[in-house]
Amino acid sequence: MSEHRTRITEDAGIAARAVVNGGLVAFPTETVYGLGADAFNERALKDIFLAKGRPRDNPLIVHVANQSWIPRLAREVTPVARAIMEAFFPGPITIILPKLNSVPHALTAGLDTVGIRMPDHPVALAFLDACGGPVAAPSANSSGRPSPTSWQDVFDDLNGRVDVILKGQKTRVGLESSVVDCTADVPVVLRPGSVTLEDLRLVCSGARMATTGAPLERSPGTRHRHYQPDADVVLIDEGQEIPPGKRNGYIGIAPRSGFEICLHAADVETYARSLFSFFRECERAKVLTIYCQRVQRSGIGRALMDRLDRAAAR
Ligand code: TXA
Ligand code: MG
Repeated sequence: MSEHRTRITEDAGIAARAVVNGGLVAFPTETVYGLGADAFNERALKDIFLAKGRPRDNPLIVHVANQSWIPRLAREVTPVARAIMEAFFPGPITIILPKLNSVPHALTAGLDTVGIRMPDHPVALAFLDACGGPVAAPSANSSGRPSPTSWQDVFDDLNGRVDVILKGQKTRVGLESSVVDCTADVPVVLRPGSVTLEDLRLVCSGARMATTGAPLERSPGTRHRHYQPDADVVLIDEGQEIPPGKRNGYIGIAPRSGFEICLHAADVETYARSLFSFFRECERAKVLTIYCQRVQRSGIGRALMDRLDRAAAR
């Protein structure tokens, strides 16, 4: 980035100009805020990794305003990818396709594939459109921290490390996109999200989750520390007893009492949407242990449990 001052704006044109000039711009999407840069500018890509403290072996995904941009990135659009795009683009899903040689090595961390996503968000689409070309963007948090669901979360992690924060509302989904490998005959889910396995099976009946071990090879990012707030995260079942203690937080669907902060979500979607912002709220309240209720691993519950398992892993 050019200077150590972060400009906060609601003007997508100002934000896009910063990208065109090689800068870093945080922008809202329907999932979480992204940290964007020109996908073909190697120096700007390097800056993304530096600003986040992100390991270099974790590839970035690329955001497009329009499906017509995909031939600038992918060598081939497979039939599986076509079916998925038809059903879910724009939306909270990233498709993995074979990449063109012109896509920078720094972006894909040396993989021969590239992740592509078209967000379902008016501000994101206006911004991408004004950029005029593909924008690489991981989530706009410091590496290892909970993903940002508000522009203030981005500010807390990255103020002074990015050129512009494009201000939007709190994000609607609250968990990152589903990442789906579309290079073979059936779609394989590398990271579950709010486009669920059940949703994908309506379009491609053979869709499946990646088997344990495979995500590590296919999606290197899954091996790193993730989503961890500055407090211990402990997963509990409904009705499970919790040792008494001060400075505890609780998030879940079953009502509980006796916590410094607690969030009772009406359903799994609300729980998923609230999780990362609740983690950050607990940090601000100096909570030491955050108890999180486990949910069923189906529908969006699969994505929520994926994030909870990682947040609890030490
Ligand atoms: O919702 C989202 O996906 C947000 C918003 C900003 O779009 N972005 C996001 O990016 O969550 P990030 O970098 O935090 O997560 C992208 C995931 C990482 O786990 C990465 O390893 C994986 O996608 N990934 C990227 N390129 C890949 C590829 N070519 N093959 C397999 N996995 C890939
Ligand atoms: Mg991330």
